[in-house]
Amino acid sequence: MFGDGARCVAVVGAQWGDEGKGKIIDVLAEQATIVARYQGGANAGHTVHVGEEEFILHLIPSGVLYPDVRCLLGNGVVLDPWTFLEERDALIERGLDLEGRVGISSRAHLVLPYHKQLDAAQESTRGGKAIGTTGRGIGPAYRDKAARIGLRVGDLADLTRCVDVVRQGTAAANSILASLEADVRVRPEEVLESLREVAPEILRLKTDVGAEIRSDISGAGRVLLEGAQGALLDIDHGTYPYVTSSSTTAGGAASGVGIGPTMIDEVLGVVKAYTTRVGNGPLPTELQGDEADRLRDLGGEFGATTGRPRRPGWFDGTVVRYAAGVNGLTALAVTKLDVLDSFDRIRLAFDYELAGRHFDGFPDAARDLARVTPIYETLPGWLTSTAEARRFPDLPDHARRYLRRIEEVAQTPIRYVSVGSARDQTIFLDARNAATV
Ligand code: IMP
Ligand code: MG
Repeated sequence: MFGDGARCVAVVGAQWGDEGKGKIIDVLAEQATIVARYQGGANAGHTVHVGEEEFILHLIPSGVLYPDVRCLLGNGVVLDPWTFLEERDALIERGLDLEGRVGISSRAHLVLPYHKQLDAAQESTRGGKAIGTTGRGIGPAYRDKAARIGLRVGDLADLTRCVDVVRQGTAAANSILASLEADVRVRPEEVLESLREVAPEILRLKTDVGAEIRSDISGAGRVLLEGAQGALLDIDHGTYPYVTSSSTTAGGAASGVGIGPTMIDEVLGVVKAYTTRVGNGPLPTELQGDEADRLRDLGGEFGATTGRPRRPGWFDGTVVRYAAGVNGLTALAVTKLDVLDSFDRIRLAFDYELAGRHFDGFPDAARDLARVTPIYETLPGWLTSTAEARRFPDLPDHARRYLRRIEEVAQTPIRYVSVGSARDQTIFLDARNAATV
């Protein structure tokens, strides 16, 4: 990526999140000057392994493990200040020096305690139609942002001027809580008081993220824009209403940090060699029973934020082809190939049928996606460990054939293949070879 002269690369999830973006960003960050998150909040869980150590990051960008990388949280992020400070302090306790390395956009909206209460109350009344949110207050925080009753990082500088907004926000929250028959109510004074406690620490990190990135790129900088969740959880392009509340796709990367789309040179889509989803909503290639358990156990498919078991399925080419389109992917990173090492046959869906007919494109309604029948092909497994492979030719023939098929059905060249959680378990394919692996 950066090796081919790119200055700004967006790294996005091209399935339902948990594709392994954290690891890929950590690997690419070695060459980066800035890593900036552009959307989402503490709903994300990015797991990064360095040596024997495991880090699970929720808000702080996955570049944080390199001492010279500056980590920014863009305006598109919703910041829970308490969770953020906890995460930051835990990293400092583990020996990381974060002084001068973390910046937060003054335009980023705050997730307030009542957003979490609303998230929980709303989910509990949805019954069988629950979205399966992470409970981090994400949807309610973005709703207040759109309703123009949100508080932003910059507002922390003068909370006395925020009294009216906080009153409006808590009044709106209380009326929703009352209508849901939830027994909690929020008081504006409490919200203001707790914000006063965290304001100085957050304000110390306040910055103009867009301006920093633009100036870095015009110098010698190399910038990674870090997505959270995935294309199928995008508020517009995902499986609405079973989505998160932000623009997870590459278009959101530019507006979520404050640069123009023309500044993004490459868009790297991260996909697992199979599929998982956590939370509710349609998943056409979902597996049940023993095969699901096996894939879940081998892949360690339990949510990094909530610990919930993820729903596993075969690779869905229609999903990734769609994600390639809505993101303008220039390349793919395929992760967790090693998880498939012991399967003697591997299925891959390349198309859908709906009501007995070929379905062209991707359904715009979740209820249609729930009704499609994936068309599968079955490929032979390789039944050898790929964990030691470091170059593409090291991979067994059948693994290469599987990857080649992924490129074809996704109509996107593969640039990275990950065969384990360690940094060095990463195969790089150069741009020339990618299209013909
Ligand atoms: P929310 O983002 O907490 O509102 O949850 C909305 C949906 O997105 C739920 O299905 C969550 O499980 C899913 N989701 C949110 N964040 C992540 C993530 O980081 N990985 C995978 N799924 C996520
Ligand atoms: Mg995750």
